[in-house]
Amino acid sequence: MVRFAVEAGGAPTLIWEGRPRAAPLGVAAEMVVSERSAGALRHTGAGMVCAGDNLAVMRALRGKVEADLIYLDPPFATGDEFVLQRGERETVAYRDRWTGIGSYLSAMFERLVAARALLKPNGSLFLHCDWHASHWLRCLLDEVFGAGCFKNEIVWRYRRWPAKTRVFQRMHDVIFWYGRSEGDGHSFETMYEPLAASTLATFGTRKQVADFSSGRRKPGQLEVETPGAPMSDVWDVGILAPISRERSGYPTQKPEALLRRIVETVTRPGDLVADFFCGSGTTLAVAAKSGRRFIGCDASPVALHTTTKRLLALESEGLAGAAFEVARCGHVEAGPGPLAEVALVPRGGAMHAELRASRGGDLEGVDAWSVDDAFDGKVFVHRWSSSRGRRGEGMETLGPALARGGARAVVRVAGADGAWREIAVGRDAQVGAAKVPPAPRSAARRKRAAGVAC
Ligand SMILES: C[S@@+](CC[C@H](N)C(=O)[O-])C[C@H]1O[C@@H](n2cnc3c(N)ncnc32)[C@H](O)[C@@H]1O
Repeated sequence: MVRFAVEAGGAPTLIWEGRPRAAPLGVAAEMVVSERSAGALRHTGAGMVCAGDNLAVMRALRGKVEADLIYLDPPFATGDEFVLQRGERETVAYRDRWTGIGSYLSAMFERLVAARALLKPNGSLFLHCDWHASHWLRCLLDEVFGAGCFKNEIVWRYRRWPAKTRVFQRMHDVIFWYGRSEGDGHSFETMYEPLAASTLATFGTRKQVADFSSGRRKPGQLEVETPGAPMSDVWDVGILAPISRERSGYPTQKPEALLRRIVETVTRPGDLVADFFCGSGTTLAVAAKSGRRFIGCDASPVALHTTTKRLLALESEGLAGAAFEVARCGHVEAGPGPLAEVALVPRGGAMHAELRASRGGDLEGVDAWSVDDAFDGKVFVHRWSSSRGRRGEGMETLGPALARGGARAVVRVAGADGAWREIAVGRDAQVGAAKVPPAPRSAARRKRAAGVAC
């Protein structure tokens, strides 16, 4: 049960069973860089993707980074399990299951405290949630940041296929914006939205001003066109269409248009943007595209894999700002499974790494692979990579010419579960093998295979 405690003269505080006593900042764990994109070797402002529980990661980053913006899009306390859909394949991405609302609130309380400690004095935090817990989270934010640091409650309104219900269709999320400090010291670039039809009909498209020339206030007009009305806190932004190019297949992926609005309003180019529930990497992609530095974190191998693929694709399109390093904090699960194999084959006078199925298996379970042909024994660099698209298509199986004579080549192979396996294929090991889990099937296909009508 959750209840309020109200002390005389103080603000109400939420109380629940198991609530952490004070706001604990905790002990910092060690983070080790385990992976880089090729561009990160040249790009000094390389972004960072942190693998692990975000509480440990945020504690490890304390005192080392100061963010201008932190966007958090945590699980919403729905009680559901979310799966990644790629073609016919489904993989569990993450679970939003709790032993009760108290365990959810404890987890969020600790993370809000840790996030606030990473903000610059004029930095901003945006917390994305919905009706399941927004009422509790607003109370926690007031407690952790101070009610005076509240800036906005943004309603993100979207349209989706209506469901048959006896209540109004639930078609909005809530995004709370709190500043690290009270007042107007934060960055703010005013955004505009189109004028209402009635305003256009009455005043036209010219900028309106107050005219005091007659000694009294009268509406006046300038020669310049108006940029529109300053944006309100209700945002109509479309969710990702099933056929959108932006869609990665990651469940609960948010549209870049939504994040662009947040990032470009409260940060400037060169600022640091952090997302500690980064999922498919939407915030990081938007930050890279708009010239901001980024830090992302997720505990799910599927999320980390999706983010890695997304940033590698941006880098290969020539976006230097998408260069990144991956740092690990604690243990991230890898899955078991049958074998994929990498062999060195001669082609056109050079040696190439070739991905093959082995022991009667197939490559269907492989979602991406990367080659580092100058592995330093510590940090893997994605110097060449190839991955499947959203429908499972388009992965190359013959790698690049391995030109770095004598160096040890290492190949990493990822299954759809997002866990990477490393295979050494240098001079000494001509053939390497890695365990890659079998391609998971969708529930519908499993039922069809079992002869169940669906
Ligand atoms: C709603 S999704 C984020 C979606 C993301 N905004 C996007 O656009 O793709 C929530 C994410 O939080 C991650 N997550 C949940 N608990 C976490 C934790 N304790 N540490 C790190 N990541 C966590 C989940 O794995 C999931 O990817």
